[in-house]
Amino acid sequence: MTQRRLFVTTALPYANGNFHIGHIMEYIQADIWVRYQRMKGEEVHFVCADDAHGAPIMIAAEKAGITPQAFVANIAAGRKPYLDGFNIAFDNWHSTDVPENHALAQDIYRSLRDAGLIATKTIEQFFDPEKNMFLPDRFIKGECPKCGAKDQYGDSCESCGAVYAPTELKNPYSALSGATPVMKTSEHYFFKLSDPRCVAFLEAWTHTEGHLQPEVLNKIKEWFSTSADGSGGLSDWDISRDAPYFGIEIPDAPGKYFYVWLDAPIGYLASLKNHFSKIGGDFDAFMADPATEQHHFIGKDITYFHTLFWPAMLHFSGRKTPNAVHVHGFLTVSGEKMSKSRGTGLDPLKYLNLGMNPDWLRYYIAAKLNGRNEDVDFNAEDFMARVNSDLVGKFVNIASRTAGFLNKRFAGQLGAIGADDKALLDGLQAALLPISAMYESLDYARALREIMAQTDRVNEYVAHHKPWELAKQPDAEARLQAVCTTSIEAFRLLSIALKPVMPALTIGVESFLQVTPFKFSDLATTLGAGHTIGAYQHLMQRVEATQLDALFEAAAPAVDAVPAALPGGEALAAPITIDDFAKVDLRIAHIVNCEPVEGSSKLLRLTLDVGEATTRNVFSGIASAYQPADLVGKYTLMVANLAPRKMKFGVSEGMVLAASHADEKATPGIYILQAWPGAQPGMRVR
Ligand code: MSP
Ligand code: ZN
Repeated sequence: MTQRRLFVTTALPYANGNFHIGHIMEYIQADIWVRYQRMKGEEVHFVCADDAHGAPIMIAAEKAGITPQAFVANIAAGRKPYLDGFNIAFDNWHSTDVPENHALAQDIYRSLRDAGLIATKTIEQFFDPEKNMFLPDRFIKGECPKCGAKDQYGDSCESCGAVYAPTELKNPYSALSGATPVMKTSEHYFFKLSDPRCVAFLEAWTHTEGHLQPEVLNKIKEWFSTSADGSGGLSDWDISRDAPYFGIEIPDAPGKYFYVWLDAPIGYLASLKNHFSKIGGDFDAFMADPATEQHHFIGKDITYFHTLFWPAMLHFSGRKTPNAVHVHGFLTVSGEKMSKSRGTGLDPLKYLNLGMNPDWLRYYIAAKLNGRNEDVDFNAEDFMARVNSDLVGKFVNIASRTAGFLNKRFAGQLGAIGADDKALLDGLQAALLPISAMYESLDYARALREIMAQTDRVNEYVAHHKPWELAKQPDAEARLQAVCTTSIEAFRLLSIALKPVMPALTIGVESFLQVTPFKFSDLATTLGAGHTIGAYQHLMQRVEATQLDALFEAAAPAVDAVPAALPGGEALAAPITIDDFAKVDLRIAHIVNCEPVEGSSKLLRLTLDVGEATTRNVFSGIASAYQPADLVGKYTLMVANLAPRKMKFGVSEGMVLAASHADEKATPGIYILQAWPGAQPGMRVR
């Protein structure tokens, strides 16, 4: 059989945050498949990259006060511990903001344009007049047109679930500046997905056996279908964004950039090309070879991009199209959707830092993945039960109960086995060889069920032959060696079958058995009499409830990998003690009078009653924000023990408190503090 040549990817994660457990699930699914292919001897190139571009990353970087490049680099720098920790065997990790990707994206675009598949259209869009930029839907907020809920996003209402266009929001405002957006026109570039050539190609591509799972194809059929009135069907895709935008410039279109989703999948090719430049491979030849198989692993939310836009972009730029897009469902944690913002869920790095075994998670997730587009739940009790009973109680137990006898009594040597023993091993081989097809079709759940059923059979064999009793009988030496040999041979076969799922455990097993790395074809062989195994060392610990408690214990507020947006535009001051705070004597002050200060446009003169025999005179720089009449009669807060200060206009005997942004020019506004009704002048604030 000729060796397959596989190009495998997972979705490129947005470089706006660390990995969450959903990402890790996707990588585990793909990594198991890749390891299985490698065990069969196939040539595999498994790559990924950071998805660097787009408005959200640009805006987040601006808030953090750094360039988008630096922002993305910070995120990229944090990837390694996750990937190494869970033994995800990518051959290359790259970025979409690299020269290879700029060149490839512009190339592909030119081909699409030459094929007549690019059109321009003038569209109207919300524009932030303060930030001077068009607003992505996510950055427009307002009142829901259906239920009136406040502060809803531009595309849908979190309160009533309504879906609408941003232009339908009532009292819309920019989430960036708070300004009221204005409608502005701009010329946009479109990829003509509705072109009959595209539609015909995609009909054929999506319906080709093997490209898509049946349930995914069903969903896509809905996207293709046109209603009686001619509406629906594939619409043209807006692929341009106006400057300022963090992305790749569109050739011959000054000030226009590719929408992030145009260059993101091209990043698959860029990462592969970069990989080939490192290993000395010929990227163009590899991609031109009809035998090359291209496989993408993605989550259900990005199906449209990968099953319609992406194959069409590749096909009409004269490139090979994917052989399969494998779509998985979403991971929930205890039945709940993960929320990055609320910080719930299972933190993969915390899992590793607690010393929890990566293979536990790989096994648990694999046991739940059946290759269909279905959601998967992580449940802590279920996790503990599965790992402890299947892996420790059943699988590892076979070796731990039998290896010691071989080591102690037979210097680790395997012996001759009987016909019954051989029948067990033959049965095991016959049962395990078919799991190859289950790995191939991503039905890991079924593969592991089969492996566990065989593990049960082996445990029955051990329980039936009781090596610990044979060990006590003086004339049962040969039988003891045969039973333990058979158990270890069986353990080896099960280990080979489990290898794609559990790389860390496998290393321990290979070294214990003193064998070269398992290949899939090893399932058809046995070690045979005379082979010497090493000393048995504990291969796997049990999951402890305390570990899971620690894993799900509410974390202290997350320290972001990148500088977070500074609250109010400035970093928090150094910590102080309560004694430090007590030095500042804050009192409720009644503003009994307020007047402008002649000769100053900034200051107001306040007359304050702080419960003392006489009132105080305080100057405050709040004239830009308040009319004197606004303040008279109000109760505010003052620093009552500030040393009096002589100013040009008189002595100021304290200071009233007001809030403002560090950058008053960019974010104007001064807000004086007001006391809750009932507070009396002179009361201390503590
Ligand atoms: N940047 C895009 C993909 C571009 S591919 C050319 C993106 N990034 S993402 O970080 O939001 O998601 C990356 C992958 O993680 C996607 O396949 C997505 O479906 C998957 N998942 C995100 N949340 C998930 C779960 N809760 N569960 C499983 N996978 C999830 O989309
Ligand atoms: Zn609503």
